[in-house]
Amino acid sequence: MRYIYWGILVLVLAAFTSCSQGTKKYRIGVSQCSDDIWRNKQNSELNIGAYFHDNIELRFAAAYDSDERQIQQIDSLLECGIDLLIVAPNQVSTISSAIDRAYDKGIPVIVFERKTNSKKYTAYMGADNYEMGRLMGEYIVTRLNGHGKIMEVMGLKGSSPAIERHDGFASVIAQHPGIEVVSTLQGDWTEPTAYSIVKQWLNAHNDAQVDLVFGMNDRSAMGARKAFSEMGKALPLFCGIDGLPGEDGGIRLVRDSLLEASYIYPTHGDQLLQLAVDILEGKPYEKETKLMSALVTHDNARVLMLESDEVIRQAKNIEQLHAKASGYMRELSNQRTLSWLSLVAVALLLTLLIAIYMYYRQRARLHDERRKMEREQLDFYTQVSHELRTPLTLIEGPLEQLAETPEMQRASDETNGIFAIVRRNTRHLTRLISKLLDVQVGAPSAEMDGDEIDAMTVTRPVDTAPAIDDLDENASTVLIVDDNADIRAYLNSILKAKYKVLEACDGQRGQEIAQELVPDIIVSDVMMPNINGLEFCQRVKTDALTCHIPVILLTARALSKHQIEGYESGADAYITKPFSSDLLLARIANLLQSRHQLKDLWSTQRPADAGSETSAAASGHIDDPFIERFKTILESKMSNSELSVEDLSREMGLSRVQLYRKIKAITGSTPVDLLRKARLQAAHQLLTTTAMTVSEIAYKIGFGSPSYFTKCYKDEYGTVPGESRKK
Ligand code: FRU
Repeated sequence: MRYIYWGILVLVLAAFTSCSQGTKKYRIGVSQCSDDIWRNKQNSELNIGAYFHDNIELRFAAAYDSDERQIQQIDSLLECGIDLLIVAPNQVSTISSAIDRAYDKGIPVIVFERKTNSKKYTAYMGADNYEMGRLMGEYIVTRLNGHGKIMEVMGLKGSSPAIERHDGFASVIAQHPGIEVVSTLQGDWTEPTAYSIVKQWLNAHNDAQVDLVFGMNDRSAMGARKAFSEMGKALPLFCGIDGLPGEDGGIRLVRDSLLEASYIYPTHGDQLLQLAVDILEGKPYEKETKLMSALVTHDNARVLMLESDEVIRQAKNIEQLHAKASGYMRELSNQRTLSWLSLVAVALLLTLLIAIYMYYRQRARLHDERRKMEREQLDFYTQVSHELRTPLTLIEGPLEQLAETPEMQRASDETNGIFAIVRRNTRHLTRLISKLLDVQVGAPSAEMDGDEIDAMTVTRPVDTAPAIDDLDENASTVLIVDDNADIRAYLNSILKAKYKVLEACDGQRGQEIAQELVPDIIVSDVMMPNINGLEFCQRVKTDALTCHIPVILLTARALSKHQIEGYESGADAYITKPFSSDLLLARIANLLQSRHQLKDLWSTQRPADAGSETSAAASGHIDDPFIERFKTILESKMSNSELSVEDLSREMGLSRVQLYRKIKAITGSTPVDLLRKARLQAAHQLLTTTAMTVSEIAYKIGFGSPSYFTKCYKDEYGTVPGESRKK
């Protein structure tokens, strides 16, 4: 399954990378100084050039002959992030600062058509305007046969073509004295300005004769023509520059004799774009590219018109083709996205199908396994039940026979009691096994109810309250905690020969008895109503009064995790049912024994030994807060000869029995013994360290009479008090 997910991930990644891969994209900013048909033609050529590169984006800006606007437009192109700047500066010097900024930013700059005085540009492309002015001058001189009056309408002051064209033109005119320039008017490349300045001049020079007007571009020539014709003057010849194709272009104007001549001012936008791409892609390029051009006269205007119309038609075709190609590309990209999406969807669907298939296969396998297990279980139960029935029959039958024998009739009540337990439980077991078998084979009326299942391990609690008064002083006391009365009876029968036995039917009652009578050891079942064995054990072990009592958990829960739970609750031993009575007895004896060893150490301690032994027990220190407290109370009260065990119990907040059992369990001595030992130890101390008489000492430490003190002292230390003093 994991592999499928990886596969899908790879497909999706491949889809995305294949979409995003390809050549680096470039953004080129084009800053045009003006907006007119010449600029429009060039812009559309730039666009066509870009069609051949799918990584070029063009951003156009037109400054409408304003220096400020052009500077601002260049700056905002830089801000939006361009990779190269193409700029036609409005004037030679006014735009230089913006050009410098672009170049200093590391952006390549191509200056085209008009020139700048900035040195910070990467390449220049444009026609030779001086040459153009010169050739136009020569044409005019020839056309006028070396004689005539000329009006010159200049382009925008400060723009390089205006300066160069004028210089070229003037250089020719200077050589022909028959040619007179009657006026050089300052235009700005636009037709309206030319119209108004020429009109103004004509008004001022009513009688002036003009044979030819040289407009520095076709629009200026046509503006002048309009002024002449409006003023009702005889029309001179008009020459211009630009020679654009199309309806409004100079070629048609020459063909239709509105202009005498024009000069094709090349736009070459596609060539300009190629230069930009070469620079961007780090290919070799020309730093200065001079565009070639040609004169348009009546002789070639018709042919040029035809050709340029053809070029326009071709350009339109290219536009259409491009539009179509773009459409196809869009469709293709949509289809590609769609294919990838379908692929992913198919992969997901496939994953889903596989997952569903695997789920059902797994379910079927589990179902089969369960069926198989059920069958095996049934076989097993059937076999085991049958196997069990045979020996059970052989137990139950002979037991019934035995019950009828005269020996049994004569047997003691106790024997009969045990016999009754055996018979009752044998019958119970037979019944349960029959039911179990019936349940397994699915007999309709043979469901085991909850109580009956419980009955296999649990019988309703029957409580017994033991009598402490009958207990033999030396025998240890065992508390049995089990909710099954038969188990309790059976355990009782096993233990009673050696121990005094107390019984409780559950943990709750067990805890009460443990606190009340402080048994020497506890044997407890685990699964019981109210408080179970684990909880019970925990409570015993966390109660200061009972914490010293060893606890054996006796249970049918045989798994090791159950045993761990048992030990975690503080149990000292864990015996699983069915158990061997010998094992249980040995375990009890062993636990009691290990506790006795502690007691012996305490009870055999002599005052003289104090300090010579290093073990805690040998030095009289049992690390038990209960005993420490008892000793403190004992030492502070022992000088009182009237002090009784009841007084001590009261001081400890316990009953006489509780104190007796707890003290005896831990120290092996009775509270009375410990009181006597404490007094004798104090006496021994006084004898060896003071000059007090034996009688004085006897009374001081709480003995009723000196003779009784002497007897006790001798019993304890083997010598009379006087002897100890001599040492
Ligand atoms: C177009 C134009 C042309 C002229 C050229 C001079 O904007 O005015 O008519 O030849 O620019 O730069």
